[in-house]
This record gives sequence, structure tokens and C-alpha cells, in this order.
Amino acid sequence: MNAKHTVLVTGGAGYIGSHTCCQLLNAGYNVVIIDNFSNSSPDVLDAIMAISGKRPALVEADLRDADAVRVCFDQYPIDAVIHFAALKAVGESTAKPVEYYEHNLLCTTTLVKGMRGRGVKRLVYSSSATVYGMDNPAPFREDMPISAINPYGWTKVMTERMLTDLSASDPEWSITLLRYFNPLGAHPSGLIGDDPNGIPANLMPYVNKVAAGILPELPVFGDDYPTPDGTCIRDYIHVMDLAEGHLAALDYIYTHNGVEAVNLGTGVGYSVFDVVRAYERVSGRTIPYRVASRRPNNADAPKAYADPAKAARVFNWKTKRGLDDMCRDSWTFAKTRLIKSDA
Ligand code: NAD
Ligand code: WQD
Repeated sequence: MNAKHTVLVTGGAGYIGSHTCCQLLNAGYNVVIIDNFSNSSPDVLDAIMAISGKRPALVEADLRDADAVRVCFDQYPIDAVIHFAALKAVGESTAKPVEYYEHNLLCTTTLVKGMRGRGVKRLVYSSSATVYGMDNPAPFREDMPISAINPYGWTKVMTERMLTDLSASDPEWSITLLRYFNPLGAHPSGLIGDDPNGIPANLMPYVNKVAAGILPELPVFGDDYPTPDGTCIRDYIHVMDLAEGHLAALDYIYTHNGVEAVNLGTGVGYSVFDVVRAYERVSGRTIPYRVASRRPNNADAPKAYADPAKAARVFNWKTKRGLDDMCRDSWTFAKTRLIKSDA
């Protein structure tokens, strides 16, 4: 880690980006965030300041705005980029496919052209375990074929392809394609976390709202899967571990050229009921639930978890936190953000 390094973090005010910014600042990096706050708030910068004691520089702009990106590279001595900014709601991507393809691909092409224009060729990209599609057996390895089952997932597959082609066209680029499994948890301070607007689509934000008394019960999407308790199994990863994985990836791209796809997961799968039980245990709250139908179009793979061996080998990184830590820190965030008077 070098205090002279300046890292641009696109989408740095979002859920994973904000945790990563805290750890970058703690490690001595200079951090510049570009974010349009379409799915976050400027208050997150105060929280980052409270946690790390340092305030990142902010460029409030849309990443699709090529002029704004150019100005950003002119203004700061950026030497590497971590690219989080994207639309990420799977259901919405099915309803608005053109908007999703346009937005996610344009964000990345605009960014990469801006980087190329200033000779910045180190990039950490937020891909997703969704690229393993429905046909690979878990545990998922990076050399398995990739595909997708929704437009959001295809934007990740296409971007991986584009960045791989970019690397082939110019060997000076150094790119990691990080395939995140299911991030959960929050910074232990409770100051930042995952707080989507409206009814949450993902498991933990939903559980948080049930625990906080905002929603009455958790719908469990199917208990008739071929798994030990009938609910789907996922590789939940603490967002703090995930953030540390980005620092490991950054270390790697400062010393290696080329492109590498790397899983960021624990290698351990938990069911929906495992998550509910762990959350109840650490929070002392009861999570009422009702077994509902499977998600439409059989969109849930029964089992999805990582083979994390490549990350250990290439980045010398592995996760340190367990499911109880994820649930405890999510609950702390829920108490801080959702039910302040009860905290
Ligand atoms: P998030 O929505 O919390 O953060 C994204 C941030 O990007 C937000 O602050 C948003 O305001 C900003 N943003 C979006 N479009 C922008 C634009 N055009 N210009 C500038 N800023 C823009 O999402 P997250 O959960 O932190 O996810 C970060 C990345 O990781 C995304 O690329 C997502 O696809 C990927 N990912 C997320 C998960 C997950 O479950 N959270 C899993 C796998 C991969
Ligand atoms: C986890 C489990 C649900 C909500 C999604 C995206 C994926 C990636 C991560 C970005 C599943 C069950 C959920 C609820 C439930 N994102 N569930 N009741 O679907 O594994 O992955 O987020 O790249 O692309 O698809 O995560 O948190 O939505 O669901 O029973 O109210 O919880 O069926 O088994 P998922 P999730």
C-alpha cells in the first residue's frame, strides 16, 4: 500500500463501494469517488469520514458523461480504478432490458475510454457469481463456461468479454474481474450498510426490515429444492471481507498485467433457513416467515457457492468472517438506520 497511489472508485457511495473506500483510506490510499447518488446518498461520505477519519474526494457526476470522466482524470493523479457503478436489480433488468444494457455497458465503455485517454490501465471490475448461470454445478470455478439468465447477468458477461478483449488488444492493461457471491453484513459501526429503497428484493435487507418491525414476515421462496432443508443454498460473504478482497486485487494489479477472473466467496454454502436461524440467534429477534412459491421462471439455482482456491492462490486472500458476524453486523446496521429509537 502506498500513500502516493490515488484510486478512483466509481459507485463509491454504494453498499460495497463505501466499505471498500473505508478500507482503502485506512490502508493509506488517496480515494476519489465518482457517483451520481442514483442509489445512494451524499451522507455516506460523512459516514466514511466518521469511520476512517478521512474524507474521500468526490466528483458528483454520471459515469456515462464522458466530459465529467475526462475532468475527473485531469483533476486527480489517478493510477487505478475500482469500478462498482452499475444498475443491479435483477427484476428491474428483466422489465427494462434496454435501459440495463445501455446503462451498464455505457458506464464501462465511458470509463475505460477515459482511462485510456490518460494512460491509466489498472482496473478492478465488479462482476458477479451470476455469470455462472444455471448449468454449472457448485462449487463454481473460474474456468467454467459463463452465461446468464437475466439482462443484468448478461451485462456482467458482456463486460467481462469486453474487458478480456481489451486486455488482448493491449497487454499493458491489468484487469481483475471479481465475481462476488452474496454480500451480506455491514461495517460493525452500523454507519454504512445495504439499505435499498422500497420492498427489498434480496434476502438480508428483507430480514432486516422484518426484524425492525417494518415488514411483517419473510417470504421464503420455496422449500422444495433438492437441498437438506429444501431452501436454496448460497455463498454469503461478509461485505468487510469483500472489501478486503478489493485491496488484495488492487495489490495484484499494481504488479501484474493481463486479465484474471477471480471468485470472491467463502466456499461455504448456507440455506435460507440457516440465515434466518443465525439472525434470530444473534439479534434475539424472532423472524416470522411464510413459505411462498419459488421465484418465477425457476430463477433460483438450488445451490450456488464458490471454489475460492484461486483467490487464495493469486491474491493471497481469504474470508475471515462467518455467518454470525454477517447477521450481527446487519442487525447493528438495522438498529442504527431502521429503528433508531430502539437501538
Ligand atoms: P449499489 O447500488 O449500492 O452501489 C452502486 C453505486 O453506483 C451507487 O452509489 C449508485 O448511486 C452509483 N451509480 C450507479 N449508476 C451510476 C452512474 N451512471 N454514474 C455514477 N454513479 C452511479 O450496488 P452494490 O451492491 O454496492 O454493487 C456494486 C457493484 O457490485 C455493482 O456493479 C453490482 O452489479 C456488483 N455486484 C453486487 C452484488 C450485490 O449483491 N450487492 C453482487 C454481485 C455483484
Ligand atoms: C438469496 C436466497 C432466494 C429474498 C442476487 C442476484 C445476483 C447477485 C446477488 C448481483 C435465494 C431467497 C430472497 C426473499 C427468499 N447480485 N430469498 N426471500 O438471488 O442469490 O442473488 O443477489 O450480482 O445476481 O440474483 O440473492 O439475496 O436475492 O436471495 O427466500 O425475500 O434467499 O430465493 O435462495 P440471489 P438474494
